[in-house]
Amino acid sequence: PKCNGWRTLHLHNYNGYWLSTKILKSNLLIHAYFKSQPTDIFLASFMKSGTTWLKALVFSTLNRDRYTFSNHHLHNHSPHSIIPVIDAESYHITDFTNLSAPRLFSTHYPLPLLPACMSCAKLVYVCRDPKDVLVSKWLFMSKLRSKDLPPLSFDEAFELFCVGASEYGPFWEHVLSYWRASLENPDKILFLKYEEMKKEPEMVVRKLAAFLGKAVTVEEEEKGVVREIVKLCSFENLSNLEVNKTGVEKFGKVLDVEKRDFFRKGVIGDWKNYLSDEMKERIDGITDEKFKGSGLTFTTV
Ligand code: A3P
Repeated sequence: PKCNGWRTLHLHNYNGYWLSTKILKSNLLIHAYFKSQPTDIFLASFMKSGTTWLKALVFSTLNRDRYTFSNHHLHNHSPHSIIPVIDAESYHITDFTNLSAPRLFSTHYPLPLLPACMSCAKLVYVCRDPKDVLVSKWLFMSKLRSKDLPPLSFDEAFELFCVGASEYGPFWEHVLSYWRASLENPDKILFLKYEEMKKEPEMVVRKLAAFLGKAVTVEEEEKGVVREIVKLCSFENLSNLEVNKTGVEKFGKVLDVEKRDFFRKGVIGDWKNYLSDEMKERIDGITDEKFKGSGLTFTTV
């Protein structure tokens, strides 16, 4: 791509997707060593699409019999510490064997880069309007980059994102890989949108519960269990918990991230503060073109 920032990204094109050296290395390790179990549940997403939120929602939905709202595991454990991301190389395969079933993992790998052995697991994918993803990702990566790399301007990040050259990108191919698989195999892959989670969180929790084989009962509905899960996992609640505000989240040897950086605004449409009309038109045009005929749409606000 014709932009200066490109040279500082250090990405490799691997089977059509862009990965950093460490993430590529760990992908090869996972292919070599990871053994999935038929009860495994994977949470997949393109970076900055709502992974942290999805982790909290899935964990609290599955474990709703074990905790009460006032005394919940999520109050003193960050979502990322509860659900490991398999993309991080130091999560060596043997680390996972002691986890009790169903084991929960997350990944940012596009479906073609997940080892074939994972195809038997249940998987929940969350996607988000690429304009909000781009803004969220640029701000997030800028904080990480600032340590050892020169800053990447928003214009450069925009250009690179549009041509697909972005960690785990191209964004559109990533989303489509899971979308198509979810159409073919709706019992195995649940496809969610950040925007629908924001607008109808209770409906999403019911959907998740049913998909994970623990449908919400009438009794639970009467007790307001769904509302409690939504409240527990809300941006307001999670971002104000001490456990998510202080300290560093370690992703194996790959990445250290300030925990608070996973919580920024948590809204739909913040792209309006960053993208010009021209940029919006360009990115929406790419989305229309790439998603044409797939049945997948984003409602732009
Ligand atoms: P913004 O940067 O737009 O605020 P990921 O978890 O995949 O890294 O995505 C991070 C994005 O999700 C950030 O978006 C973050 O603020 C938002 N987010 C985190 N927790 C959330 C929650 N409980 N509800 C809604 N959005 C949330």
